[in-house]
Amino acid sequence: MLVNLTEMLQDAEKNNYAIASINTPNQISLRAVIAAAEEVNIPITINHAQNEDEHIPIEIAVPLMVDYAKKSTVPISVHVDHGLDMKHIMKAVRLGVTSIMYDCSNLPLEENIAEVKRLKELIDHLGISLEAEVGTMPNNMPDEVHGQERSDLSDLSVYYTNPKDAQIFCEQTGVDVLTISFGSVHGMYEGEPKLDIPLLEKIKEVTPNTALGMHGGSGVPYDQVQKAISSGIRKINYFTAIDTSPAPHLLKMIQEADGPLNFYKIADRAMEIIYEKTVEILRVCKNEAARS
Ligand code: 13P
Repeated sequence: MLVNLTEMLQDAEKNNYAIASINTPNQISLRAVIAAAEEVNIPITINHAQNEDEHIPIEIAVPLMVDYAKKSTVPISVHVDHGLDMKHIMKAVRLGVTSIMYDCSNLPLEENIAEVKRLKELIDHLGISLEAEVGTMPNNMPDEVHGQERSDLSDLSVYYTNPKDAQIFCEQTGVDVLTISFGSVHGMYEGEPKLDIPLLEKIKEVTPNTALGMHGGSGVPYDQVQKAISSGIRKINYFTAIDTSPAPHLLKMIQEADGPLNFYKIADRAMEIIYEKTVEILRVCKNEAARS
């Protein structure tokens, strides 16, 4: 069923789990991720990031996502990930998304607040949930993403969210989700990831009425993910770990083929692998051991 993010977050808060927020830039990912959520029986958000327009235009992606979400047995929010400008966001609103991340994290705090408040006034009456970011998500993807070049990862603390800024931001904007930076990166890690859980706890203490989000879930060891959930993270974005999971299996399949190999068979195998990886991740987000 198609819902907004706010409804799901209330349940996640009450039951100490996190909503996985997964980019699905093609129909194979979309079907696999939704099937996995149904298997684990957990609400999710399916994301279209503005920079994914070059792979699948939003006019094609979002109507498909909305249709699949409506038919699903679990609550699903169709989400704009890293919306960078109002024109794109308003297009998404017209296409039926139920939650939006407006990423103005590259602006000074006051301007970030002003921009996010402006959007909130426009979408609040439509029942669309709103996520924003304070601090910076470092980028370790091969290309520029979300308007951001590859980052220097030698000292991640330079990107961390300042708790006072987070408090002011939440009080002034009333966003549903605040994404914070406390040790995760977009893409895979160089070296062992180490989330700064004490910083997360400090931020949680001063933002009691806002759900906190973590991006860059891929590659964070599952025990750290679950510590973050138990310390207040309610939304976790995943893409790289899921989207890169089929490649080694497909390579093997192609190498072992003893004749012409149909693309639909490759696509089916990719869907299977994405499904399995997503089930694994969703079980971590469900945080069952900590809930029982
Ligand atoms: P990863 O690709 O590192 O999992 O990050 C995804 C993300 O945060 C999308 O917004």
